[in-house]
Amino acid sequence: MSGSPPDARGPRDAPGPSGPPTRILFVCLGNICRSPTAEGVMRSLVEEQGLDGAIELDSAGTGGWHVGSPPDARATAAAAARGIALSGAARQVSGEDFERFDLILAMDRANERSLLRLAPDENARAKVGLLRRHDPAAGPASDPASDPAPGEDLDVPDPYYGGPHGFEHVLDLIGAACAGLLAEVRRRSSL
Ligand code: 4NP
Repeated sequence: MSGSPPDARGPRDAPGPSGPPTRILFVCLGNICRSPTAEGVMRSLVEEQGLDGAIELDSAGTGGWHVGSPPDARATAAAAARGIALSGAARQVSGEDFERFDLILAMDRANERSLLRLAPDENARAKVGLLRRHDPAAGPASDPASDPAPGEDLDVPDPYYGGPHGFEHVLDLIGAACAGLLAEVRRRSSL
């Protein structure tokens, strides 16, 4: 075979700050509470660190009941009190998401299982994980290769049917996990 330079990547594909963006999709059940919160929290961190353009973010739900709806008003209010804006309209995960995104991070194990069922092949399955595995304080199971220890709970609990405290707890868990996730992405992509 001739004609290919040793490294056929063009400047836009090179790793590092000028490389292609890392694309991250956050997934919950309804795409109105937890995953738009994760998207908003992560966007705020990315902007704070001047990384807009290097990391692309979106969110989706495994269920379709709320398609087209804005984020839940309680989630929006709790996030706004911390200076974080939630935006967008709910949509359901699609097959295309497994091509478009590099990381597809579920808010809980039930949604992780749904994503693994939807993933078309091994490459797609390898993109699926739990958001809280990226929380450095979440214990030894934050190693993406390991299973949660017995009894270990890495879920971001569903706040939909609970009171305001649930939305605060969601923000706390997501804040810690997104900080760890961003540090990992920066390390991996030399950002
Ligand atoms: P989310 O919360 O998955 O964090 O968006 C939920 C929103 C709606 C429902 C369940 C969870 N629901 O059953 O309608």
